Amino acid sequence: MIQIAIMGLGTVGTGVAKVVAENAKQIEHKLGEPLQVKTILVRHFKDGPYRQLMTDDFKKIEEDDDIRVVVETIGGVEAAYEYTKRALMAGKHVVTANKQLVAEHGCELLALAKKKNVNYLFEASVGGGIPILHPLTQCMAANRIDEVYGILNGTTNYILTRMVRTGAFFSDALREAQAKGYAEADPTADVEGIDAGRKICILADLAFGHQVDPASVPMEGITKLSLRDVKIAQRAGYRIKLLGRAVRLPGGGRTAYVAPHLIPEENPISNVEDVFNAVVVRGNATGEVMFYGKGAGEMPTASACVADVMECLQASPKREEIGWSADTNGFEDPMELHTRYYFRIEGSLTDAALAFGQVEVLSEDGETAFLTDRISGQDAQQQSKCLNVLACMRVLA
Ligand code: HSE
Repeated sequence: MIQIAIMGLGTVGTGVAKVVAENAKQIEHKLGEPLQVKTILVRHFKDGPYRQLMTDDFKKIEEDDDIRVVVETIGGVEAAYEYTKRALMAGKHVVTANKQLVAEHGCELLALAKKKNVNYLFEASVGGGIPILHPLTQCMAANRIDEVYGILNGTTNYILTRMVRTGAFFSDALREAQAKGYAEADPTADVEGIDAGRKICILADLAFGHQVDPASVPMEGITKLSLRDVKIAQRAGYRIKLLGRAVRLPGGGRTAYVAPHLIPEENPISNVEDVFNAVVVRGNATGEVMFYGKGAGEMPTASACVADVMECLQASPKREEIGWSADTNGFEDPMELHTRYYFRIEGSLTDAALAFGQVEVLSEDGETAFLTDRISGQDAQQQSKCLNVLACMRVLA
């Protein structure tokens, strides 16, 4: 019998307990022994099927030699960081879905895991149930990764889909996403692009081998997005999606950011809807590879956590070699990137042309919506200074 502990019994923690119970036979077959949740760390005891396993004392996990893997689903940093360090110090593998902790302290926690000859695995931290970190670091290991971009937040993609398809109000669509267990405890992290920002940092860390500090990554969400722009874009053959993007720059630097983009409808990522996420990885040998699936929710995210648990046990005592350098040098402002830009201005086509030269007009009715040629973020900002800008977004081309 292999015993594990879960820390935190929210959406993902509950999912982990359910997957371990519901898929017990398949898991036992693959591990050669049954897997059992022995202890669950909670802040407040509550009645239910796991009542007998609950403790509010972390030492019951830390000092229990029978517990070989700890699944951290507390979320946030403070307690999760402290307990993860202590669990690794105690020689236990740790598995997590906690993107904030990985984005901010992953480099240090991986180094600690290495020192203690255990694993720190976090497949569930990006893309929920989609296998993306293992394929990126293992299956695509022979590539130089030049770009990673994707729809990385299920809540905002769900909200956008509901607003566009059925005309739902933002607040109603957000409430639905919360009821379905997609949103963060504080959904500000979802709708302001912070959750997607943490995920693009993790992807960039692994893709480029250097720490990308979340504080240096510009993050814009969907709260300022107007349905008017969504409709103009649709009529012109584009969809608007919130993308996280990490790019290797021609000069050797790297950049990353999160923002809504216009995506041509021929690009498959433009059709990714509801809670689904998609991540595109561009390797110099593979070209673009796309990963698609449910990016949030109890069971898909738990599936990734439990697979990591199984990997720890199968890989043990040999550790998984993943990680990146703490050196943040080479991170550049995404304003360096050259892309086409979408603008909606209060003004005429003549005003647009005076600022940008030749532009592609998408709509003209008092306001003017248009696309520029490929220009840098600095040029987009500089050249639009004389215009009354109502909306501005990059185009994924
Ligand atoms: N709140 C996150 C989302 C959960 O909506 O994508 C999965 O990380």
